[in-house]
Amino acid sequence: MEYVTFIFTVLFGLCLCLSNIEGAKILAIFPFPGPSQYILVQPYLKTLAARGHNVTVINAFPQKEPIQNFRDIPVLEVFEDYDNIVNSVQTELNKWQEFNFYTEFFESISLRVLNNKAVQKLINSDEEKFDLVIVETVRTEILYGFAQHFGAPLIGFSSFGTDVEMDEYVGNVSPISYVPSTMSDLTTQMNFMQRLKNFLIVGLQYLHTYTVHLPRQKVLYNQYFPHAKVSLETQRKNFSLMLLNQHFSLSFPRPYVPNMIQVGGLHISHKPSPLPIDIADFINGAENGVIYFSMGSNIKSEKLPKETIDIFLKTFASLPQRVLWKFEAEKLPGKPDNVFISKWFPQPDILAHPKVKLFITHGGLLSTMEAIYYAKPIIGIPNFFDQFLNVANAVKSGYALDVDINTISIASFGAKIKKILSNKIYTEKIKKISRQYHDQPIKPIDAAIYWTEYVLRHEGANHMRVAGQDLNFMEVHSLDVIGVLIFVSAVGLWVIYWFMSKILGFIFTSNAIKHKKE
Ligand SMILES: *[C@@H]1O[C@H](CO)[C@@H](O)[C@H](O)[C@H]1NC(C)=O
Repeated sequence: MEYVTFIFTVLFGLCLCLSNIEGAKILAIFPFPGPSQYILVQPYLKTLAARGHNVTVINAFPQKEPIQNFRDIPVLEVFEDYDNIVNSVQTELNKWQEFNFYTEFFESISLRVLNNKAVQKLINSDEEKFDLVIVETVRTEILYGFAQHFGAPLIGFSSFGTDVEMDEYVGNVSPISYVPSTMSDLTTQMNFMQRLKNFLIVGLQYLHTYTVHLPRQKVLYNQYFPHAKVSLETQRKNFSLMLLNQHFSLSFPRPYVPNMIQVGGLHISHKPSPLPIDIADFINGAENGVIYFSMGSNIKSEKLPKETIDIFLKTFASLPQRVLWKFEAEKLPGKPDNVFISKWFPQPDILAHPKVKLFITHGGLLSTMEAIYYAKPIIGIPNFFDQFLNVANAVKSGYALDVDINTISIASFGAKIKKILSNKIYTEKIKKISRQYHDQPIKPIDAAIYWTEYVLRHEGANHMRVAGQDLNFMEVHSLDVIGVLIFVSAVGLWVIYWFMSKILGFIFTSNAIKHKKE
């Protein structure tokens, strides 16, 4: 049995080698200033380079060491006033303002990319040729223009899954009755009022896309790609493939068209590296387990209010567990002995350690995915963007508790930590979800590579594209057919009514005449 598996493995490896497209030239556009979005996609881009493709990446986090086949085009100007923007979203916005915010934010990033000198040189060079363009899809239609400019197929990558707009890129369907909008706090089970709310949010996003967002993008598209071979509307409906950082075991089951592929958690390395010695010693010396605490890369722990830091410290001091705390300052006055601080931790390697029992996190998408991957229950302290939604989902799924940073107290925080560590149901629940996630026929990163090369092998893989892409809104939803059927039925009913009234009228009047005669 063993050697059969062995032969299969060798043959499969051989197939992958044989199917390798000789060094395609790939342009990847991932210019967003959030570090986690780039952490997510880097292993995919580096693997493409390692497989012999020539990868050029427009991004905000250039490599420190050069990598073979991997060329950076840094666009560091996207960081200008990024902090202000992050702070400005803390203020309350209504849905329409929120849509406006995203339109403006991503437009400003796109323009910084397009105005970058090296990018302009790329666009205007006659030597630059690309076989494939890969782009992160978040309200940045104008950047899809690179695909038509280089006459290359277009692949989209979404860090959070699909939405109303991305569905349109490949003609996917997201039934509003059980697929909650990513802009809502709803889950897949919805009662009537929630379905109504979901319908309104999706409708509003649609309205915003077509009345505000796309018209603005169109003006810019025509300005920056004046010789465009196809219109923005055509380009955005001509994606060869969409890769989604999602999986039904991480969220909920739902339909996808064939060229929308789930590669959720593709960034997680499958072989944990050994931990640095001081961290390893600290973890191994813990008799009652270890808690790992990180608020992510956007929020600096030292910038938290002093009272909040004090609450964390006093709570941790009262615990029998040891705590690893990602804390950015050198010194933390009053730090108890059971707390280890560091500016940086190899997060996945720590979560992989069996002595680590709990993950206290801000609830960013990557962190929640890593928690599932390594089956560690979480306490979520959300701050902004999708963190509230991620934490709400985790709580609902039964492997997390949430903490509100504004009302946190030593007693409540400590009680939640004790509850999640002493009550087995949280750990058991996440172990179950983790097993379901790991049970996939092909690893997410391998799936991402496979389908990317599939698009190259089949020159854009047009045969995966659903015919709905060539229909308009009315046609796709059969509104024209329904309209005609209603019209025909109405005419039919009227004709029947007319006949009946004539015939009955005739019978009645002739009866009446008869009666009169008698
Ligand atoms: C859509 O993309 C495919 C694959 O890259 C390409 O062959 C085709 O010409 C494109 N269609 C339009 C209308 O641009």
